[in-house]
Amino acid sequence: MTPEPPDIPTPESTAGRSHASGGFDAATYGDSFADVYDEWYPDVSDAAATAGFVSRLGTQLDVLELGTGTGRLARSLTAAGHRVVGIDASIPMLRRFEGSGASAIAADMAQLPFANASFDCVLVATNTLFNLADADHQAACFRNVAAVLRPGGSMVVEADVPAPSDPALDRLVSTRSIEPDRVVLTATIRDEAAQTVTGQHIDISNDGIRLRPWKIRFIGPKELDRLAAAADLVRTDRVSDWSGAAFDADGPHHVTVYTAPSG
Ligand SMILES: C[S@@+](CC[C@H](N)C(=O)[O-])C[C@H]1O[C@@H](n2cnc3c(N)ncnc32)[C@H](O)[C@@H]1O
Repeated sequence: MTPEPPDIPTPESTAGRSHASGGFDAATYGDSFADVYDEWYPDVSDAAATAGFVSRLGTQLDVLELGTGTGRLARSLTAAGHRVVGIDASIPMLRRFEGSGASAIAADMAQLPFANASFDCVLVATNTLFNLADADHQAACFRNVAAVLRPGGSMVVEADVPAPSDPALDRLVSTRSIEPDRVVLTATIRDEAAQTVTGQHIDISNDGIRLRPWKIRFIGPKELDRLAAAADLVRTDRVSDWSGAAFDADGPHHVTVYTAPSG
């Protein structure tokens, strides 16, 4: 494991590799993509619209972002006037964190190292919840989010609606990009019963081959609702995207707000 740099607080109980599933652990995704994340995914979602959506929940909120990465969303949230703490399991990712006033902590989003009732809002965007690659850790995440939310506080989840099963697409290799001296291939295996996709971005250049492994457990809106309800969180909004467009059950995407009891 990469040693923690001194400027990133790492709670003892939540080191980056705190849980594992089939050889993949909490830090696998971030460690795989840290050096290319900002280059590959600068516009993966609308950061300003994300901050605008959170701001409609309240002003000057204490926001916890799960899987903050390089701070792409944390920067927009602080610019909108919120106090932001980002956590991430990957030290290489956090070394690249630039939060414009937000702070970053190395921690696993399945084991939140915060006192109860510390935040007005917990944001988990860009399919990051799916990075918890088994059902138990996803359920634990919801329970811990419910604990750290203040009464009446909100959990905001942005995720894709899983595509219907198609056995022809269960094992794929596709081309992500080609340059004169580099090709990036993506190999995936989808396990419908386990609701997982295990993947490798295979980054080939004249310098050699770099494997970028990842694994997700996809969950649809109804299962998310069940996890939230089990954690005593109530769904109070569901829209298609950060602009607030009406949710389309056949659409590819949703943004959902779960609210903690008001006490
Ligand atoms: C898809 S990226 C999203 C980054 C950022 N939120 C954004 O929207 O640009 C997912 C992030 O979650 C982090 N991550 C994955 N599993 C995690 C876990 N169990 N606990 C904390 N962070 C995790 C990864 O290291 C990565 O930085």
